[in-house]
Amino acid sequence: MTDRIDMNNIPQHIAIIMDGNGRWAAERGKPRSYGHQAGVDSVRRITSECTRLGVKYLTLYTFSTENWNRPVDEVSALMGLVLSSLEDEIFMKNDVRFRVIGDVNRLPKDVYAKLKETEEHTSKNKTMTMVVALSYSSKWEITKALKDIAEEVKEGKIDVNDIDEEKISGHLETNFMPDPDLLIRTGGEVRISNYLLWQIAYSELYFCDTYWPDFDEEALSKAIASYQSRQRRFGKTEKQVEDTQK
Ligand code: IPE
Ligand code: IPE
Ligand code: MG
Repeated sequence: MTDRIDMNNIPQHIAIIMDGNGRWAAERGKPRSYGHQAGVDSVRRITSECTRLGVKYLTLYTFSTENWNRPVDEVSALMGLVLSSLEDEIFMKNDVRFRVIGDVNRLPKDVYAKLKETEEHTSKNKTMTMVVALSYSSKWEITKALKDIAEEVKEGKIDVNDIDEEKISGHLETNFMPDPDLLIRTGGEVRISNYLLWQIAYSELYFCDTYWPDFDEEALSKAIASYQSRQRRFGKTEKQVEDTQK
């Protein structure tokens, strides 16, 4: 199934905007929460497949700051799903370390406690790190980083001239991992929706119409094949890149 993929050029970090659960459910005449439930099955499938392929970081956009504006019922259904899916044996079975990024203080207490417990419980797992962005938005994250840095300057811990790209990256929620190589958005929308704005400066972007609950191993292998067909130039010329690969 994955024969189109070069196993020597697997993206180290894949970030996914998991979109389309609601429309998937509506097409079946079901409530939106049914789509979110099916979305959890996709998370399970894609997580296992990524560990099998040798991906080191998988960052999943699960609930944005803006999603707090959804109907209360939908928000609580989503919180319930986060809670129950953390009971899953998937982390230990696949040797996956779990991390959460976002404004977790806004989450219900039981969800917050379970997230922290899962982070701790899985902290020694090595095969892959799965990062869940919850109550997350990139503008929130960057604003917080700037405030923290300003505080350090004010306290005289650092000089204004010490502020460089590395310093800013180091104050983001994602400071424990490299930037994404590949960003996938399912569900047909071609936008970023406040996700990892700083970190995707040089990521390869891949958009597909498939709703998240239908996104399977084959769909993932298509995304990776697309990634592998591209030349990452980082500002250089095609020839310069080819010469360094010789
Ligand atoms: C993505 O699916 C999951 C979340 C944002 C929580 P949606 O719920 O946005 O599904 P659509 O876009 O309405 O189909
Ligand atoms: C983005 O999806 C957030 C997540 C996938 C968690 P949305 O469905 O909320 O995005 P918009 O509002 O359509 O841009
Ligand atoms: Mg959506």
